[in-house]
Amino acid sequence: MACFIVFEGGDGSGKSTQVRSLMRRLRRRGVDVLRTREPGGTRLGQALRTLLKSGEPMTPISELMLFEAARAQLVQQVIKPFLADGGVVIADRFTSSTMAYQGYGRGLDRKLIEHLNREATGGLEADLTVLLDLPVETALARKSNGSADNFDSAPVDFHRKIRRGYSALASADPEGWLILDGQLPPEELGREIWTKVQTLL
Ligand code: TYD
Repeated sequence: MACFIVFEGGDGSGKSTQVRSLMRRLRRRGVDVLRTREPGGTRLGQALRTLLKSGEPMTPISELMLFEAARAQLVQQVIKPFLADGGVVIADRFTSSTMAYQGYGRGLDRKLIEHLNREATGGLEADLTVLLDLPVETALARKSNGSADNFDSAPVDFHRKIRRGYSALASADPEGWLILDGQLPPEELGREIWTKVQTLL
């Protein structure tokens, strides 16, 4: 049965670990599952990823449009065909990342972002969005071991705005979001996510 599950959260929130864990559980049940990450997943998306993460600084509006371009390509080329074949897609970031980072974080017009999100996705929405929420300092400390990109190295205040943005988005749609405390042990988070996902399948 086709199902579209999205993981969201700030930098260092532990999404990737949970995405991998859910993939394993689904595969064990014989489910056809595909993982995507944004930006990326297509040739255009991969090229834009390099520009967005490590290229020279750009204006917020340029940044917004490049994320949307990467998304439009990914939805059209990869996500929609896989869902049409009845698979489960697990996305590491989707439209809410743009609302949180470019809307709440950079302060761009949220109506404009809603509009661009709709155009880029052709109206595709997640069946479930999982939010891993944790204090910004804790999350960024997890990242401090790796090499920081343009986003990780942004001021703490930027990350605080993103966290507030995610909370606002999730609490406006409690049916569609599963909000979890990202400080819980990964195994416990994995179990909670699995319990919820099973109700969808
Ligand atoms: P990535 O290394 O994939 O970070 P993470 O592992 O935290 O997902 O880098 C993607 C970065 O791009 C991340 O800092 C969030 C940011 N981003 C936006 O600002 N807007 C967007 O629409 C998306 C998809 C990502």
